[in-house]
Parts: sequence; structure tokens; C-alpha cells
Amino acid sequence: MSKAQVVLGTFYGDEGKGKIIDYLSKDADIAVRCTGGSNAGHSIEVDGKKFAFHLIPSGIFNKGTLAIIGNGVVVDPKVLIEEMNELEENGISTENLYISEKAHIVFPYHCEMDKLLEENRGNNKIGTTARGIGPAYCDKFERCGIRAEDLISDNFEGLLTVNLNNKNKIFEMYGHPTVDLKQTLADYKKYAEILKPHITDTITLLHKALESDKKILCEGAQASLLDIDFGSYPFVTSSNPSIGGFCTGSGISAKDIGEVYGVLKAYSSRVGSGPYVTEQNNEIGDRIRELGHEYGVTTKRPRRCGWLDLVALKYVVRLNGITGLAINHVDTIGKLDKFKLCVAYNHNGEITTDFSTNVNFLNNCTAVYEDFDGNFGDISKCKTRAELPENAKKYLARIEEFVGVPIKFIGTGAGREAMIVE
Ligand code: IMO
Ligand code: MG
Repeated sequence: MSKAQVVLGTFYGDEGKGKIIDYLSKDADIAVRCTGGSNAGHSIEVDGKKFAFHLIPSGIFNKGTLAIIGNGVVVDPKVLIEEMNELEENGISTENLYISEKAHIVFPYHCEMDKLLEENRGNNKIGTTARGIGPAYCDKFERCGIRAEDLISDNFEGLLTVNLNNKNKIFEMYGHPTVDLKQTLADYKKYAEILKPHITDTITLLHKALESDKKILCEGAQASLLDIDFGSYPFVTSSNPSIGGFCTGSGISAKDIGEVYGVLKAYSSRVGSGPYVTEQNNEIGDRIRELGHEYGVTTKRPRRCGWLDLVALKYVVRLNGITGLAINHVDTIGKLDKFKLCVAYNHNGEITTDFSTNVNFLNNCTAVYEDFDGNFGDISKCKTRAELPENAKKYLARIEEFVGVPIKFIGTGAGREAMIVE
């Protein structure tokens, strides 16, 4: 039996998971998304054309690779169909796209609820993507969610009517615009027609694939510090983008997971609210943002930027059983003369390397840094680590030494090919 490979984000998302996924999916038989929904944003460049995707696994770009949207994903069919159309228009077949019958469906009332809840939070906003993610997972766990198999069943109209009317009562209470039942019903019946051929039992499909030694790549969305359990709650997303979510979101057992690649950047970034110990809310952060083009794919928001945090990374390595790291934007950090790396926290005068996601703890920590020299020059042509300048090698070695995991992928430039694989 083969083992599934996992690619996951280690910080707050946007680590450039797509680049590693793109590389690994070249010889994957199946690429599967397990958690989150259209809050994710990955941009992929294929034959000079840029695609900004939210739901479809990037594996779809390889002819012959099956792309699966697993049961743990919350699917906005409108977004999904838009992505499918974009692919088809560019000559990429979506015949190999499968959606788990158990995946929950996102409706307009989820997006409206997402907005309403954010409004009601006043100064304590999470800064969600307004894609209805939290409310869709709420319905799932409240056990009133509508799954893909319901969308294509005769029960659909009844289920939708009850759910939508219940949500509208809440909207009315807050004076928030309600959602029209007739329109929603008509739209989703159309979506159901289009998606029906793709909706199937992906769990058995994956089990059989493992048994016949097929290569499975699990494509992470979001990242560990946005995890509902292991992130800085409540400033998190509503799923488990850490290792457990790959099992519950696909049906692949823990025993069947092999390599776990954790993706990070040579610096760090965060979108939305929440603590961020190494944030540089100053001209350094602005510089990193410009150098790294740190603006959101999904919401276009400027990302908060700062230094790499090894205290957090060590926690994330332990949490996920990470076997190898992939570090992007080494070229970007190397454009600075000097930069910093966080190796401990000062918590009210006490030095610690133990991370905690407690928001109060994090808000009372300042970073303890080591200094590094930049000026790496153009490293985009380097094919091995040995070819990198000494300053870059020193930085990478320090990261590996601290977290005790080897770096297996080194991003050296913006292009697809600008990567060292060890
Ligand atoms: P990718 O896959 C960065 C953040 C939002 C917000 C919090 C909750 O591109 O790395 P949600 O809409 O999920 O309820 O918002 O999570 N967030 C992301 N930040 N990249 C993502 O995905 C994100 N998905 C959610 O900004 O702070
Ligand atoms: Mg993103």
C-alpha cells in the first residue's frame, strides 16, 4: 500500500503551498483538498496564464491526475463552477474532478451570516474572508447542514426551505437583508445539474487508490496557526487545517499518511486579526510586503508582515509530525541588508521557547531575535543548496537546527522552476 503525502501551511496561510503542491502533483495520481472552502486562495501559473483558485485542487492541471474535493471541505458551488468554467475555457478538462457526496454546501445565507456576525463583533472582528466558512461549518456540526448528496436528491427543496427560513428569521431580527428562497432554489438546482456527474463516494475511491499503490497528494488550505483547535482562537478559521483535518476531511487513516511537508516563508505574514508576535507594523513590514507582493488572493487585503518565528514553527512541527520543510521567498528575505529570526519569546520578563496559542499569552510576548545578513543576490538559478551564498546557508541551517527537521524545498524566486529540491 502507498502512503499519502501531505502539504500543509505552518503559520497563518499564504506560505506558497501552491508551489510545492505544483511540484509534487506532477507525479500524483490523485490530488485531494480536505479542509476549508473558498476562503483559500492559491494562484497558479500554467503556460503563461494565471489562475486564482479557491476550491479546485491544483492537481487538476496535470492530465490524468484525479482532483478530489474531500468530505471535510465546505463547497460554494457558484465559486466551484466558475473555476470549472475557467479551466474548460482554457482547454483543461474537469472530467477528473470529484466532489465527496459528504462535503457540505455553502449557501448565500452562510455568507450573509458571516457578514452579520462580523458586524456584530464591533471592535473584535476576526477579519474573515466573508465566504460563509464559519456559518457553513456551524450548520455541519449543528447537524442541519446540506451535503452534496442532498443537493442532488429529491429532499433538497425541503431541506433548503427549512434552513433558509430559519436563517431569514435571524436576519429579520437584526434588520439584515434576507435571502430569497425562490432565487436560491432556482440557482442551486442549476448548480446541482452541473455538479451531479462529479459527486461521488470519494472515501472508497481513496481507500482503493491506496490499496492499488496510487500516489495521493493531500493539498492543504489555510494553515496550522489558523486551526480551530490549535490556533489563536478565536482568530482562526472554522476547520482543522492541521494534520488531523487531512484524515477527517478525506477518510485517509493516520496510518496511511507518509511524508508531511510544512510550508513556510523566510519571513511571515498574517491576514485578518489576532496576535502576531513577530509582526513588523512599521516600514520594515511595509518593505517585506512590497518585496514579497503580500496582498490576498481571496480578499486582496494587504497582509501583515514580519519576521520568521521559530518558537511557533517548533510547535507546528510537533503538532503535525512534519517530516520536511519547504521554505519560500528565500530570495525575498535576501533582498534586505539585514534581517531577524525569532528564537525565543520574552513573556513578562521570562524567556521561553514554549509556544502557546493563548491570545493573552501571545499579546504579552515580545520576540527575542538573532540577526542575519542578507544581500543574497540573484539565487533563482541555484540548483543545489551548495550553490547558495553563505548568508543564505547560515539562515537555513539555523532553522533546521532549531526545529530538528530538514528543509527539503527552497524557494529561490517567483517562477515555478525557481526551487531547490533536496
Ligand atoms: P490560504 O489557503 C490566509 C484567515 C482570514 C481570517 C481567518 C478566518 O490562501 O493560505 P474565515 O473566512 O476562514 O472564517 O476567516 O482566517 N484565512 C486565511 N488567511 N490564507 C488563507 O488561506 C486563509 N483562510 C482564512 O483572513 O483571519
Ligand atoms: Mg490566502
